[in-house]
Amino acid sequence: MKRIAVLTSGGDAPGMNAAIRAVVRAGLYSGLEVFGVSRGYYGLIYQDFLRMNSGSVADIIHRGGTILRTSRCDEFKEEAGRIRARESLRYFGINDLVAIGGNGTIQGGYKLAQLGVNVIAIPASIDNDIPGTDLAIGFDTAINTVSAAINRIRDTATSHERIFIIEVMGRRSGHIALASGLAGGAESILVPEVEFDLDKVVERLRQGLKRGKLHSIIVVAEGCCGAYALSEKIHEMTGMETKVTVLGHTQRGGTPTALDRMLASRMGKRAVDLILEGKKNRMVGFQGMKIVDVGLEKVVQGEKSIDLEICEIARILSI
Ligand code: ADP
Ligand code: F6P
Repeated sequence: MKRIAVLTSGGDAPGMNAAIRAVVRAGLYSGLEVFGVSRGYYGLIYQDFLRMNSGSVADIIHRGGTILRTSRCDEFKEEAGRIRARESLRYFGINDLVAIGGNGTIQGGYKLAQLGVNVIAIPASIDNDIPGTDLAIGFDTAINTVSAAINRIRDTATSHERIFIIEVMGRRSGHIALASGLAGGAESILVPEVEFDLDKVVERLRQGLKRGKLHSIIVVAEGCCGAYALSEKIHEMTGMETKVTVLGHTQRGGTPTALDRMLASRMGKRAVDLILEGKKNRMVGFQGMKIVDVGLEKVVQGEKSIDLEICEIARILSI
């Protein structure tokens, strides 16, 4: 019986559990033996493997986090670590690995593939910064979490007629800020990909207040500029009370949305199909509402830019 392994690695993302469930169940359905690897690449190096059955993934489709646990494993960044990982897989008689994670996980998977392992990646990261896919698992849940937080902050911002700066995650990218800022009706959205002029940001605040706005919300991506430093500068320039909320890891937890569960289920099934078809070193993606697959090489060499049209729409709609 052919054996495959599945792991989750890097920052967790809501919907990873649904993806694990899909890989395990689709694999079992097709007569494969499926092993779960604990704590990502760390578990691969240290042979932390567990045989999965249908019950191992029961009652997890709606849960955030990852039942397989995850880690950031520096040892795997060294070739010696990756060779150990390959030997672990060989020891268990496995040559096909499904790696669920973000850009780092996919980089690592690509390097493992160069040592002869067949790696099929599933993109999962709240940052949504992975090339080759419109959506990564976890992004939709994260932007819903942020939008809900913006709603709450709006209430208190209006009552006190304050400016609020909300810092969101995204590492070096602005996808979360842009999507949640648009959905939350923010007055300004600051992202690392687009240079901003503080004078213009303040001018927008002033204009808004002049025409009767009771509050102003600025969504800022963590990779853009420090929210606290920005708040001080705006306070100096306007004299208005400017509060900061850093949403932090609240964005990584919580029950996955239906969209993330659907995406995870479809991607997990496709990952198993690719293995059964003998396809090598691919990432499952979602492009134009369709599940696709792209070469890992293309993914690691690619870049995912933000949609500048969304910036423009958000700017126009917040006058
Ligand atoms: P994410 O997958 O969410 O982007 P990381 O960047 O932490 O998270 O990557 C997850 C893991 O993938 C790292 O801890 C490391 O083990 C592995 N990894 C990341 N980048 C590389 C790389 N350039 N070469 C080899 N392994 C890598
Ligand atoms: O990649 C997901 C992410 O949540 C980024 O948005 C953030 O910069 C980073 O992980 C935080 O990592 P950690 O949980 O290790 O502090």
